[in-house]
Amino acid sequence: MPRIGSDVRRRRRRFLRLGVLPVVVLAWAAGPVLGAAADPDAIERGAVIYRGGTCPVCHHWEGQGNRRGPDLTDEEWLHGDGSLAAVRGAIETGFRHGAGRRFGGKYEMWPLGGMELDEGDLDALSAFVWSLHRRRRAADTRTREVVSRIAFASGADQDRSQPAWDTVLALRPQLMLMLGNSVLAGTDDMLELRLQYEKLAAKPGFDELRRQSRFLATWNDLDFGHEDAGAEFAMRAESKELFLDFWEAPPGSPRRRQQGIYASQRFGPPGRRLQVILLDTRYDRGPLWRVSPDEATNRAARGMGPYLPNDHQRARMLSEEQWRWLEEELHEPADLRLIVTSIPFVMEFTGWESWANMPLERQRLLALVRNTGANGVILLSGNTPWSDISRLDADFPYPLWDITTGSLNRRGDAIGPNRHRVGSAAREPNFGYMDIDWTQADPTIRIELRTVANRVLLRQTLQLSQLQPK
Ligand code: HEC
Repeated sequence: MPRIGSDVRRRRRRFLRLGVLPVVVLAWAAGPVLGAAADPDAIERGAVIYRGGTCPVCHHWEGQGNRRGPDLTDEEWLHGDGSLAAVRGAIETGFRHGAGRRFGGKYEMWPLGGMELDEGDLDALSAFVWSLHRRRRAADTRTREVVSRIAFASGADQDRSQPAWDTVLALRPQLMLMLGNSVLAGTDDMLELRLQYEKLAAKPGFDELRRQSRFLATWNDLDFGHEDAGAEFAMRAESKELFLDFWEAPPGSPRRRQQGIYASQRFGPPGRRLQVILLDTRYDRGPLWRVSPDEATNRAARGMGPYLPNDHQRARMLSEEQWRWLEEELHEPADLRLIVTSIPFVMEFTGWESWANMPLERQRLLALVRNTGANGVILLSGNTPWSDISRLDADFPYPLWDITTGSLNRRGDAIGPNRHRVGSAAREPNFGYMDIDWTQADPTIRIELRTVANRVLLRQTLQLSQLQPK
């Protein structure tokens, strides 16, 4: 799809040089990639009918499906060939008996989803549903690709050189996961924030890596707002727009409408399916509790931060909406799930920002994975000035690994305590690299934290069979 590629690059250039926010044009989504079969006006009217009707109850807002109905945006059709006529037929007749998959027998779809629609409405609705998967194919040309090489990084100081990009490039990662603090801005001036993103964009190697691999990003405090900021940050909506523009979320992405930037993506066919879940630990995070200034000074000497566990019932890391979304994501079939959280999850207790500061929220995530029976979960996190590999054995149906990468281009001052540490920790600037060998009956997952010189600092090898609920 060279056409889309150049379109994206053109938008990126505009973002950077002119400082004009990319304009959301429906024509972009419905343009040349759709061919001549459905006209943009019908698609637009169809979207209104879809969202105002019963469809989202079973197929979700953007058609990505849920436990009650299948994904309408992928290329796996249960009925028909995905042509406009087949989609129209499916909506018109509905289904009395499920196709025997996850929905088998349990839920049905009434003709027209139980709605009253005239021929014109049905045409428009069909055009919209049909466009969903074409649009996704345009936006995600590589989702069918089996992903076996993944790099990840957290904390990149844009005012220093970032030689790591070339090292990462040489490893040819298919996915590059940004765990947060991709720029250390910490400002409520959006022009200032934009300037910091531009510095990142100008780093040698970064643009080339962006051309060669797919970036998936979440944010942390300093690319969201201020140091350790949460829901109280006044510019969070504006910051979110900048973030999504810089990381090129397509105009139709649910991230554009929802509160916060959480997102997920799946790659590869069943048996080799990777799911990446990006959490937003900022947008709705409640207040943190701090120790006294004296105690903070004491703690700093031991490599510890100033925070206390806030075990108030209402202490909140994720919004209710995000929790519900996460539950649905964990029900999605996948073989390996990388949950990206900008701050460490397993480590306790460092006094720095981590899930341990909100013990009830931490328990809630553990319980959610237990209750959904989600297999294959590994956590990736950042934010600490050091790198660490942590393992939790309690409260979880299998060992829960949390791979924490320190800064990409700053050396840490100290290594904090971590009673779940496996092996040693490291302060050198580093990034993460993961290699999955899907060719084996029991796939091997090699995880490493590497220096700019490509030296392996920390290493952990896992078998996929070790990440299954008992
Ligand atoms: C009560 C839940 C429910 C509602 C409401 C519903 N659907 Fe469905 N839909 C389903 C289920 C379940 C299936 C798959 C049935 C099967 O397993 O064969 C399905 C299948 C489809 C398919 C075929 C997908 C494929 O992979 O072949 C399309 C298209 C579709 N629905 C569109 C719609 C539209 C448009 C609406 C709104 C008018 C709607 N549905 C409302 C549950 C629902």
